[in-house]
Amino acid sequence: MRKWNFSAGPAAIPEEVLQEAQAEMLEWEGSGMSVMEMSHRSSEYTDIANKARQDLIDLLKVPNDYQVLFLQGGATLQFSMVPMNFGLRGVADYVLSGSWSKKAIYEASKLVDTNVVCTSEPSNFNNVPNETSWNCTENAAYLHYVANETIQGNALHIPPMTNAPLISDMSSVILSEPIDISRFSLIYAGAQKNIGPAGLTICIIKNDFLKTASAELPGMLQYAKHADADSMFNTPPTFAWYLSGKVFAWLKNKGGLDSIGEINKLKAKKLYDFIDNSDFYSNPVNKENRSIMNVPFLLKKPDLDTKFLTEAEKAGLLNLKGHRSVGGMRASIYNATPIEAVDALINFMGDFQSKHG
Ligand SMILES: Cc1ncc(COP(=O)(O)O)c(C=O)c1O
Repeated sequence: MRKWNFSAGPAAIPEEVLQEAQAEMLEWEGSGMSVMEMSHRSSEYTDIANKARQDLIDLLKVPNDYQVLFLQGGATLQFSMVPMNFGLRGVADYVLSGSWSKKAIYEASKLVDTNVVCTSEPSNFNNVPNETSWNCTENAAYLHYVANETIQGNALHIPPMTNAPLISDMSSVILSEPIDISRFSLIYAGAQKNIGPAGLTICIIKNDFLKTASAELPGMLQYAKHADADSMFNTPPTFAWYLSGKVFAWLKNKGGLDSIGEINKLKAKKLYDFIDNSDFYSNPVNKENRSIMNVPFLLKKPDLDTKFLTEAEKAGLLNLKGHRSVGGMRASIYNATPIEAVDALINFMGDFQSKHG
């Protein structure tokens, strides 16, 4: 029996999508084979791939002067590919707002000159420092930030104003609400939260910016090579691409990003309101930086953490354990998690509090 899955990633996938994939598992539309067994260069697969790309472009309203790439290596490879391709023309500016920005900075620092424009590390990343306090480099090669820090549950909801090319890790927030792509030179996201299965990485990159990339790198590490080959420079993760295409179609059917954005805001508000109104649970993040996707919370009595998790699991609520580096709990409530799941979690939390509070 399927249960409510609050995992941070790989995360819940819409059940309808899984059912469709199940129905097509042995044979895709009279082709005589599973999608997994198709050549990535076949006309059948090219149609699947192109439709998925177009649906993603439609959902995000990607302007014409951008490339949409389907890559591998996770968001983690982007931590290196970004500085390799774009960091050699000056200092690379980074916002340090959580564990993932820290990893991005660590990888970039091995390759290029980096400047940390601000940090919220002294307060355990419970906020994103206000833009007015950032110490940015003049003529920086780019400015990088993590739009949603999955582990600490903080977010910068409005892209910063900057003259530098703006780059964002949107792994845990992409497709959760409308965004203005034209503000960015490059956006990347690992798939395993709001896009589809692990193994695929989406990268959206502005043509003008792409032209400035280093051409000295091995082909696999050059965005331009992937763009020239329509993301088929080598064999792409065909099944993950196909399944992600199904998630995009599902999202379009639901009314796209305006509609899912409203649902996501409502889900998060319900959960934060419940936490804020309780004296048993708390969320450490400054209100204006609270993530809509990842909601960490602490129990007033941490010795009850294990009991909370065991009982939650018995109640059909899975993967609520906070990241090992911060402890406590975390509910990840991506697009595929419906309001009913959040209601079930709130009911459980209320019951647990009345028994143990
Ligand atoms: C914001 C963010 N960036 C990067 C990563 C790393 O992604 P991957 O495991 O796909 O390399 C994650 C993974 O959870 C993430 O949440």
